[in-house]
Amino acid sequence: MNYIDLRSDTVTLPTDEMKKAMFSAELGDDVYAEDPTINKLQEKTAALFGKEAGLYVPSGSMSNQIALAINTDTGNEVIIENDAHVFYYETAAPSIISRVMLRTIPSKTGMMDIDDIKNAIRTSEYYLPKTKMICMENTHNRHCGAILDFNYLKEVKKIAIDNELTFHLDGARIWNACVATGIKPIEYGELFDTISVCLSKGMGAPVGSVLLGTKKDMEKALKWRKILGGGMRQAGILAAAGIYAIDNNFERLAEDHLNAKDFANLLQNIDGLKVDLAKVQTNMVFIDIDKSIKLSDFMESLKINGIKIGATGPNTLRAVFHLNISKEDALKSAEIIIDTIKKMLN
Ligand SMILES: Cc1ncc(COP(=O)(O)O)c(C=O)c1O
Repeated sequence: MNYIDLRSDTVTLPTDEMKKAMFSAELGDDVYAEDPTINKLQEKTAALFGKEAGLYVPSGSMSNQIALAINTDTGNEVIIENDAHVFYYETAAPSIISRVMLRTIPSKTGMMDIDDIKNAIRTSEYYLPKTKMICMENTHNRHCGAILDFNYLKEVKKIAIDNELTFHLDGARIWNACVATGIKPIEYGELFDTISVCLSKGMGAPVGSVLLGTKKDMEKALKWRKILGGGMRQAGILAAAGIYAIDNNFERLAEDHLNAKDFANLLQNIDGLKVDLAKVQTNMVFIDIDKSIKLSDFMESLKINGIKIGATGPNTLRAVFHLNISKEDALKSAEIIIDTIKKMLN
């Protein structure tokens, strides 16, 4: 069965054109820094975000964890939003790899309250952990792909500078924020010390993230990538997909945002469904399902009708729009969801 797969933008498959770019990539041994395609991707991404250097790594999780490792010392504390990927989905890696504590702050929109951030910064008493870093996520996955306000980010940067904290961005989907706001990557780049960007989400590459920062940061990051087993050899064959993605799949993210909005609009005023349109800012739609319905039954019924979809809470589904979801798919899936809820409520 050919499913409409709304589970994540990570399910995208490389197109024939992307595969051609991979097939014809110039390769070398990256341990000798001799893979021209990896070098090109690192330089290209760093230039785009106005950073000195970049390091190609296998995954967004590794990229974030390396950022934590190079920016902290054992026993430090990192301020982070309660639903951030680094805290929620990275298997407690900060406690294993960097051996730091995460000081989580809940928020309604992915943006921690400014006063909460200030209050979370520790004073210098010897018996307290040292606050060392603030970590943000933009767009914010578990807040429905929310965009973090640029002026808000500037304010947090000032707090970071005033308190000598490093400022990291998990920018797995920063591309979506750029397209939705018109704010350029280089403008986001100015705000943060380190940025992790993913090429394997909406950008449609099969693998890969790039960690960005100063040359010195990347020298340290290279060592950590090796420690974590992420050093690769002729991985230019994968990096080529990343270059192709930046050149061809960046601007088109606007189509995914439009599909998400059209889909969300269709689900308005339907008994048993609740969608907060204001939260649909990029490529994600969260749908609350009537509590009388067992979510797993609802999802199973959608699957039988050709839709794969994920859950983010006991009664909440998440639909993610991406490269492999056409306008027709978006409209058809809304129709199927409406039919299914009508049948299940009867
Ligand atoms: C916001 C965010 N950061 C980081 C990651 C981790 O990426 P990866 O799956 O490549 O480790 C994800 C994955 O979906 C994500 O959504």
